[in-house]
Amino acid sequence: MPAAPDFDTLFAAAAAIQPRAYAPYSRFKVGSALLGDDGAVYAGCNVENAAYPVGTCAEAGAIAAMVAGGGQAIRAILVFGDGAELVTPCGACRQRIREFAMPETPVAIAGPEGIRARFTLAELLPASFGPANLPR
Ligand code: THU
Repeated sequence: MPAAPDFDTLFAAAAAIQPRAYAPYSRFKVGSALLGDDGAVYAGCNVENAAYPVGTCAEAGAIAAMVAGGGQAIRAILVFGDGAELVTPCGACRQRIREFAMPETPVAIAGPEGIRARFTLAELLPASFGPANLPR
């Protein structure tokens, strides 16, 4: 059995990277950190673009870092943002997480004061389409 994810470590990594986000248009900086199946923590931040749809979310950055670093699966992921509302992953990022996670993989949502909510991926993206749907 893999070790239980250490959400304090994910929180610290996401909080540390959030100020580095490039968000001049929305001014909404997001950090994300995930625990890979290799035991490493990978973090990312949102990177916006003058051509708005080209911008990327923090989760996409963390997943790209994991793949580049050799990780192959997400054991847990945390999203960190400001404001009163829960900063839950957008629909596209739920699908991005799905590619590398299990239905029961935890997705934690945090604000500056700490973790606010915990979901499973299946709660955020039920009846999802994934790699097993495609013939190999
Ligand atoms: N954003 C993320 O990076 N992750 C989320 O989970 C929610 C939204 C970013 C996208 C955009 O740069 C900014 O937050 C405002 O939507």
